[in-house]
Amino acid sequence: MTTARHLIGLLLGTEDDWPTAFDEILRRLGPVKSLDGGAHAFDCERITIEPFGLRDRPRYQLVIDRLAYWYYHPREWLKKVAMMDGVYLLNSPFTFQSMEKHAAYCAMMRLGLKVPETVLVPYKNPVDNSRYAYTSSRYNQPFDLDAIAQKIGYPLFMKPYDGGAWRGVSRINNVTELHAAYDQSGEMLMHLQKAIDYDVFARSLSIGAETMVMKFQPDQPMHLRYAVEHSFLAPEAGAEVVTIGRLVNAFFRWEFNSCETLVKGGDVYPIDYANACPDVALTSLHYYFPWAMKALVKWCVFALVTDRPARLDLDTDRFFAIADEPGMSYEEKLTAYGGLADAYFETERYQDFCATSLSRLDQIVLDWVAGPGFDELLVRTVQSVYPEHEHEMFIAHLRGLLHLWVRDESARLDAA
Ligand SMILES: Nc1ncnc2c1ncn2[C@@H]1O[C@H](COP(=O)(O)OP(=O)(O)OP(=O)(O)O)[C@@H](O)[C@H]1O
Ligand SMILES: [Mg+2]
Repeated sequence: MTTARHLIGLLLGTEDDWPTAFDEILRRLGPVKSLDGGAHAFDCERITIEPFGLRDRPRYQLVIDRLAYWYYHPREWLKKVAMMDGVYLLNSPFTFQSMEKHAAYCAMMRLGLKVPETVLVPYKNPVDNSRYAYTSSRYNQPFDLDAIAQKIGYPLFMKPYDGGAWRGVSRINNVTELHAAYDQSGEMLMHLQKAIDYDVFARSLSIGAETMVMKFQPDQPMHLRYAVEHSFLAPEAGAEVVTIGRLVNAFFRWEFNSCETLVKGGDVYPIDYANACPDVALTSLHYYFPWAMKALVKWCVFALVTDRPARLDLDTDRFFAIADEPGMSYEEKLTAYGGLADAYFETERYQDFCATSLSRLDQIVLDWVAGPGFDELLVRTVQSVYPEHEHEMFIAHLRGLLHLWVRDESARLDAA
């Protein structure tokens, strides 16, 4: 029987850690049999940036992108290969670019989720356009910033409508801080959003049909933000966080995204749900890094072997029909959304596929992470990320967390 070969392309910026891990796991996995017995083999390449004809055919069947959010030449290439060549992309480049944090808030509110009260205010500084002076003098209404803030209530957050990396985010406690922050916002377009005085911050990383909910500590330095703590949410809140993440991802056709929710008592408040192409660095994910790499390999292999079509069209009406269903409670809607998300992600088929075609993968990854090859990657990564006087400390820190993962994972596989 012939073997079908699939080429996966990686669009990368400065990172070398996860691409090396991804490539290594794929290599160790080797050829995979589909449910009907066909053989499939995988190659992985880093994509280079060069001129492309708009009718050129790409060599890749699937692309993982961590670059196009700031580099616009490959961004346009992604749109071309999605539109013209049916290349499988984990995130629809169209919704990823048009649906920033603001649009995700709107979608979530429309679906009945508990997004905190949010107002978008006009630019503080004039927009750099010769038509601005006339347009704003004719159409911009004067507005009372104090009254808006008063209505939302203090404390509140002022943050850019598109967000990312905490740029321009501030917590506002009073009128003085409000004006200082607005004056500083300059050319950024800002939201005012009610602050949630949360018990727990849950950040969930979704890769295809899988979601990992992690306890997040936003005030800590990068390497301590994800705490290793299991069962930090009540089961119902945990299930709600997972469902909300899968819902947003299915809604926008995002399959590699991270989502932020604030949990207070029994309530789950989504605050940031448009982080497609999220950070999956070894130094930030540490204990959760092997899970992320496995999920990425599994989802890519599943998509390629089952010839999963890339879906660029949105199915918003089906989601809105649930939102508009009279008499349906919030919990019932979440269950119904979960059903749509399962259908989009083919959850059952994916799980069957993993259990049969990829049953060796857990052991393969455990052996690799426990071995010297992974340790070399860990050391190399620390050396490239931190200044020399911190190498020893970070190597010990990461080794400790990864040893913990090896221990937990060995116990899990032994018990299975
Ligand atoms: N409504 C809110 N209530 C409480 N805390 C909030 C709220 N909005 C934002 N924050 C805090 O501010 C941080 C940054 O906000 P947000 O995630 O919206 O911005 P960002 O620029 O997308 O940041 P990142 O790239 O880290 O996700 C959050 O991680 C959280 O700690
Ligand atoms: Mg955020």
